[in-house]
Amino acid sequence: ELCKGINGLDKVVLREARGSSAEVYLFGGHVTSWKNEHGEELLFVSSKAMFKPPKAIRGGIPICFPQFSSHGNLEQHGFARNKFWSIDTNPPQLPSNSLIKTFVDLILKPTDDDFKIWPHSYEFRLRVALTPGGDLMLTSRIRNTNSDGKPFSFTFAYHTYFLVSDISEVRVEGLETLDYLDNLKERERFTEQGDAITFESEVDKIYLSTPTKIAIIDHEKKRTFVLRKDGLPDAVVWNPWDRKAKAMPDFGDDDYKHMLSVEAAAIEKPIILKPGEEWKGRIELSAVPSSYCSGQ
Ligand code: BG6
Repeated sequence: ELCKGINGLDKVVLREARGSSAEVYLFGGHVTSWKNEHGEELLFVSSKAMFKPPKAIRGGIPICFPQFSSHGNLEQHGFARNKFWSIDTNPPQLPSNSLIKTFVDLILKPTDDDFKIWPHSYEFRLRVALTPGGDLMLTSRIRNTNSDGKPFSFTFAYHTYFLVSDISEVRVEGLETLDYLDNLKERERFTEQGDAITFESEVDKIYLSTPTKIAIIDHEKKRTFVLRKDGLPDAVVWNPWDRKAKAMPDFGDDDYKHMLSVEAAAIEKPIILKPGEEWKGRIELSAVPSSYCSGQ
């Protein structure tokens, strides 16, 4: 269902039979809402988010492509989140045994002007799907369509903003003992300690070669988010905390208490595609009630 969202921007609303839902703006190919079957929102979007192109929407799931962060010549996090995507009229087929019935396919291709910024021809197909159980799945397929024989390379992230009740009560499991690059220390490399990760100040870390499953446990809400990822070896964990929050015009001063970005990413080793080659990167997010004793 295509309709008008904030500021008249086009959005697609997905509704699953059992009541879960999601919203995707064509601007940015940007998921801005994911609700469980009880109608509870699971993603953070700032009340100060602007919805004013070309400024990326603050919250939800921005797509960072073809450059994660500011390492490179492009604007921060690349341009995909600042572009208007289209509905893909020639999407990849779902397997015939697929249980997925609720999805939308978007596509981004460069315009002539875009070549000045990044001189490559590509097709970026994004499928956003809800499973019957209410999981949110995002699949990106990026193809090199250069006709000059040139490969290109890129870094990538699904910059997911999870909604949490109180960041001080949140724990992340699955990143213990891993190596990470600390964005707050010029990407110096460190090794994480053995304990689950908790939050008491600003964090901006790129965990390298992580397991495919990461859990974000919200004690206060008794909810666990499970992030599963494919084709995306790294994981960014980001919370701006109070000082950086105040410096962001489209982020409320207290918003940092209610969000945590855990971003499935390919950063340390850029993806290289030859003409005709396609890369696929996928996330599946689920939100489950935490069981009482296990801490899960
Ligand atoms: C994170 C980066 O992914 O995104 C941070 O690791 C950055 O360094 C944050 O501050 C937000 O970026 P932006 O461009 O959306 O303000």
